[in-house]
Amino acid sequence: MLIYEKNSLEAEIAGLVETYGKEREALLPILEAIQKKYNYISDFAQQEVAKHLQIHPVEVYSVISFYAFLNHDPKGRNIVRLCQTISCTLSGKARVAEAIEKELGIKFGETTRDRRISLEYTSCLGMCDMGPSMLVNDTVYNRLDPQKAVKILSEVK
Ligand code: FES
Repeated sequence: MLIYEKNSLEAEIAGLVETYGKEREALLPILEAIQKKYNYISDFAQQEVAKHLQIHPVEVYSVISFYAFLNHDPKGRNIVRLCQTISCTLSGKARVAEAIEKELGIKFGETTRDRRISLEYTSCLGMCDMGPSMLVNDTVYNRLDPQKAVKILSEVK
């Protein structure tokens, strides 16, 4: 089974390389495509991408580490990112974070046991005058308070 999965991922990555090419510029779109499908980029996938693009696996790892939307490890089906930059901090981020952690029973940096939600902090989302702000997958929510944040998360499947 594992061999089948590896072969399947190998074939998929080869297909992505055919689509995006073997140049360095192809690295990010290939990683984004893998992330989109699997929610993370495994060590095996990183090595395969490096092999096809003829770059060192460390380079692939560094790109994944640099971008918050790319993950080395399996995450939840939904990624919740709460802004921890200054404006949101001043407008009540800590109370929102506390309510979310209490509601989900996990800390930021963790994933719920059912893999429904991963909690992360993020830098400024560009909504500084409407904070506290958080991103749930691709949707931004502003002017949060603890109750509003918990309600939003209760609707995430
Ligand atoms: S400081 Fe939070 S959105 Fe800018």
